[in-house]
Amino acid sequence: MHQRIHHRAFTERLMSAEQAATFVKPGMTVAMSGFTGAGYPKAVPGALAKLIGDEHDAGRDFKINVLTGASTAPELDGVLAKAEGMNLRLPYMSDPELRRRINEGNMEYMDIHLSHVAQHAWFGFYGKIDLAIVEVVGVTAEGDLIPSSSVGNNKTWLEMADKVIIEVNSQQSAAMDGMHDVYYGTALPPHRKPIDLTTVRDRIGQKYLNVDVNKIVAVVETDAPDRLSPFAPVDATSEKIADHLLGFLDYEIRAGRLSEKLLPLQSGVGNIANAVLAGLARGGYKGLTAYTEVIQDGMLQLIKDGTIEFASATSFSLSEAGIAEFNKNVDHYRDRILLRAQEISNHPEIIRRLGCIALNGMIEADIYGNVNSTNVLGSHVMNGIGGSGDFARNGYLSVFMSPSTAKDGKISGIVPFASHVDHTEHDTMILITEQGLADLRGLSPKQRAQMIIDNCAHPDYRPLLQDYFDRARKESYGKHTPHLLGEALSWHERFRTTGDMRPAQ
Ligand code: COA
Repeated sequence: MHQRIHHRAFTERLMSAEQAATFVKPGMTVAMSGFTGAGYPKAVPGALAKLIGDEHDAGRDFKINVLTGASTAPELDGVLAKAEGMNLRLPYMSDPELRRRINEGNMEYMDIHLSHVAQHAWFGFYGKIDLAIVEVVGVTAEGDLIPSSSVGNNKTWLEMADKVIIEVNSQQSAAMDGMHDVYYGTALPPHRKPIDLTTVRDRIGQKYLNVDVNKIVAVVETDAPDRLSPFAPVDATSEKIADHLLGFLDYEIRAGRLSEKLLPLQSGVGNIANAVLAGLARGGYKGLTAYTEVIQDGMLQLIKDGTIEFASATSFSLSEAGIAEFNKNVDHYRDRILLRAQEISNHPEIIRRLGCIALNGMIEADIYGNVNSTNVLGSHVMNGIGGSGDFARNGYLSVFMSPSTAKDGKISGIVPFASHVDHTEHDTMILITEQGLADLRGLSPKQRAQMIIDNCAHPDYRPLLQDYFDRARKESYGKHTPHLLGEALSWHERFRTTGDMRPAQ
């Protein structure tokens, strides 16, 4: 018992999740650990949801604001959403229950660049943080915290919160001790200094998280796995997307713009990014590096086979098979993976210095290259922008990838006008669908439009896009970025009314 807790101040505060949950009061802002389904608290949120449910049954209001690193899991976002326990949630999320309530308009959601969250908290933009609930792997004899499978914003939450609850999860591999690099050198403007990180391997911080023991009100022991995210099997569409990317990278090497070791890769979340990364193994690369947020199964495989020799991230997001593989060969991965705070893994200064190759999924792009990563039909949020903006704007290359259609061809991934814009035409260099690749670098808007229509649109939609573009070039008010404003969003409107973006024959 308590073999993971080696400090008396912590063992003295051991209690049940139910007791710990009573420290949460209505209206509080509670900051929790967790990033892409890893390292989130597993017991207190459930006990809190029960408490909230009981209060609601008794006719009393009980809602809190919840801040995290990124998405968590049913045991946190799911239960609190079901209990109608959240006023506001930020940033990235992906839980279906939470997504439903946000899209029904029953609670507020703020979608923020992941690199911005910690600094906005420090700037005071989110008000006071009353309580932090943070999962760790263990507590050292000095009272330091061994971080878990994600670092996310934990440093900031532990420093800013008035009170702290710690969950010590014995299910997390103790061998992760030493895999983290927590940087304590950030400051507020005008006192900021350059961050001295010049290669993905650089250690600039410390292994453990600090916490003021006087703030700790509860310690809870848990023994439950992270959310195990199953990935869709690699299909012909994602293989084609991966092939286009491989062809492009080879072209860049031949042109002398990339070396055979490329530049540090960033790979986004989701099935497509995961499958495309797995496809990189076919490229015959060796000794690549990654400076990214999330290590999904695809990247783990690349680290295993030597395609990637070192990866810096802030979190794991593995399937059951991925976790089993990680635990089996943990010593191999320990020397090749470093987990950092998300304000560092996603820091614009570092991303630009290293020259990351940003590989992200998207919902749709328009003919000029504006990318929608978040809102279906401009209004229904899917997950959130995550770190895609941090990397797309600051990377050496920004690549967005998607199948050319969704929902059995009824939706085109290339539209006349994006129904929501997360990444503007100025942030998009390469667009890839299974149809082909559009290299937009150095092109004007009209040149980009023609290339996107020719190379990326699905054949069902290509003539429709060409027709729109041709008429816009003639009839548009201005001829720099030609648009027919009354028609620009008509494809989305048609899908809403007929269930298909294609006009009836
Ligand atoms: N209209 C409606 N639905 C669409 C769509 C469109 N244009 N494009 C995709 N979808 C739906 C798919 O049908 C699928 O729905 P389902 O879950 O009901 O099957 C879902 O979106 C996911 O699409 P998929 O093609 O499997 O792609 P993905 O898993 O790679 O996810 C994003 C794509 C855009 C949702 C994902 O990349 C994302 O959340 N991106 C934003 C955050 C980000 O980029 N982070 C990177 C750094 S963390």
